[in-house]
Amino acid sequence: MASLDELFAAAKSVQQRAYAPYSRFKVGAAIATPDGKIFTGCNVENAAYPVGSCAEAGAIAAMIATGEKQIAAIVVMGEGENLVTPCGGCRQRIREFATPATPIHVAGPEGIRRSFTLDELLPFSFGPDNLSAR
Ligand code: THU
Repeated sequence: MASLDELFAAAKSVQQRAYAPYSRFKVGAAIATPDGKIFTGCNVENAAYPVGSCAEAGAIAAMIATGEKQIAAIVVMGEGENLVTPCGGCRQRIREFATPATPIHVAGPEGIRRSFTLDELLPFSFGPDNLSAR
């Protein structure tokens, strides 16, 4: 798997490319896969506000487009003093391709601020197993 330093650098770099003219809040996300690949995404806003997409969604789309399906770790990098934890929708998006123990690292420009497991951010979650256990 890629090192946390590499993952942090990838998230910081892609954050600069965010298209966020409306919120002026740039977010970058970097996913590490178990076999050492890194996929990145940034938020892409739209004049029709609800159509905008989150950084995590972009990184997941990039991963899936190459045929990878497992998130080993993810770094989410936001702006400001507060922890930029993934929004509710993105927690569910991550859940589809992760395990309860998958680390979600929340970063600011200076470094990783706090690390969570997916299960901490999305306890008792609904996922693929619910549908296959019928
Ligand atoms: N945003 C993300 O990209 N990821 C998150 O997990 C939180 C929010 C974006 C969406 C929007 O473009 C901006 O941050 C402000 O909400």
